[in-house]
Amino acid sequence: MEIDVFTLFPEWFDWFTAQRHVSNALAGGLRLACVNFRDHTPLSGGQVDDTPFGGGAGMLLRVDVADSALRAHYHLDPVELREQRRVIALTPGGRLLDDRLVDELAAEPSLTLLCGRYEGFDERIIEHFASDEISIGRYVLAGGELAAMVVCDAILRKLPGALGDASSSCEESFSEGLGGDPEYPHYTRPADHRGWRVPEVLLSGHHRRVEEWRRERSRERAERLRGAAEQ
Ligand code: 6GU
Repeated sequence: MEIDVFTLFPEWFDWFTAQRHVSNALAGGLRLACVNFRDHTPLSGGQVDDTPFGGGAGMLLRVDVADSALRAHYHLDPVELREQRRVIALTPGGRLLDDRLVDELAAEPSLTLLCGRYEGFDERIIEHFASDEISIGRYVLAGGELAAMVVCDAILRKLPGALGDASSSCEESFSEGLGGDPEYPHYTRPADHRGWRVPEVLLSGHHRRVEEWRRERSRERAERLRGAAEQ
């Protein structure tokens, strides 16, 4: 899998790519490239953003800058790029990232992630260059970079060989393996800490009973989440 991230702050990703699970994925064949919009601006003084027409706070990433950066990197009119690969603009109002969308993205051979800054993107970037808009939640971050890292992290855990034990991503929270429910609770040694005992069934060695117990706990948590969401 190949992911290109377009950003004004590529150095933010140095921390991310230095993390063990990410460097393992990179060693395992994931390609993650960061492209700095600023390196491709056609404007003098390295300008990349501008104030909104009609007034208002903040700065927007300029459409001519995004055009140049995409064109320089892919040697293609960016209008055609989205026919060939998913070009994802990270925006607070986009499609909410969930496990199903992560599965969908993890199945792609290549992705392009666009991070806006300040107030975001000139709308023409989204309209003409992006195939998708994705959000990681209904709140506003200073830019798309952290959201892009969230998207990458969630994807790379789905790639073959990313987790030590191949079964572990099939039965994690919200996966199909658990019918979309959150994960059951886990315990490790000690079996007793300050009188807080690990549920007996987990120590019993009865695989079937352990399975049943886990499914029940998973369903219980789903019920509780639904209750909390309704409040
Ligand atoms: Cl993708 N971008 C920004 N700026 N804020 C967000 C977001 C994205 N997702 C949630 N909040």
